[in-house]
Amino acid sequence: MFTNDQGRYFISNKIWDEEFSDSWISDQKMGKSQPPLEKPFVEEGLLPLPDPLTVTLKKKDITSIIHDRKSRRVFTDEEITSGELSYLLWASQGIKEIMANNYATLRTVPSAGARHPFETYLYINRVSGIEKGIYRYVASRHSLSLLKAGNFSDEMTEANLGQQFVGNSAVTFLWSVIPYRTEWRYNLHSYKVILMDAGHVCQNLYIACEALRLGTCAIGAYSHEKINRLLNLEGEDEFVVYLAPVGRYRERRNPK
Ligand SMILES: Cc1cc2nc3c(=O)[nH]c(=O)nc-3n(C[C@H](O)[C@H](O)[C@H](O)COP(=O)(O)O)c2cc1C
Repeated sequence: MFTNDQGRYFISNKIWDEEFSDSWISDQKMGKSQPPLEKPFVEEGLLPLPDPLTVTLKKKDITSIIHDRKSRRVFTDEEITSGELSYLLWASQGIKEIMANNYATLRTVPSAGARHPFETYLYINRVSGIEKGIYRYVASRHSLSLLKAGNFSDEMTEANLGQQFVGNSAVTFLWSVIPYRTEWRYNLHSYKVILMDAGHVCQNLYIACEALRLGTCAIGAYSHEKINRLLNLEGEDEFVVYLAPVGRYRERRNPK
């Protein structure tokens, strides 16, 4: 277990004041080669997604999108389209540029040192034309890779401590972190910035959902063991840090 003092140290920036301490001797400084920008994948069998920039938005006014954003936990049984899913993936983790020598990716969200330590997994429950199952988003190809087909709604609800709207959503975004991508450069400073990075990813998902009139809700209450087992992650070198279900919702009429 860790203490409150350690927790506060972790969210403080005291490490920056100890610039010459051991905490800053990163593998990058030691000349070690950097880890890959994304997990390996097999090209064959990838499921390409529609061009996200051709998707029609229902709302474009940024002020009303920001104003109307809220956490939505009641979804209808309707499907969402593969175009909508494509837009949400692009908005939350899409790659805009790969820098020379595969040094870094530049994406639709910011990340400390452009380390982008996340992988996106999806539990697809109701997306038109896509088989139910657990997938990984291959950002460099803007494609999906099927990990396991099937209905995992009950397991998803159980892993989210009984939050049924997660298991019943049309699709759930699950962001895992590969800490070494950030540790390679920032060593002990990584843990603070990784979680700050994660906030940007989920916020972009909220904003993109609002533009498509879809609902989402950030989820921090889940079982580490159950969620990682569901995604076949070992839970040390890669594990889930954040997730968010997405679905259609009905506009509530204003009471007269
Ligand atoms: C880091 C984080 C974790 C959260 N975890 C959950 C959760 O597990 N379950 C849930 O229903 N809402 C969760 N929420 C949503 C918050 O309850 C919600 O953002 C808050 O009540 C404010 O409402 P709003 O998003 O509609 O403005 C989480 C939000 C954040 C930012």
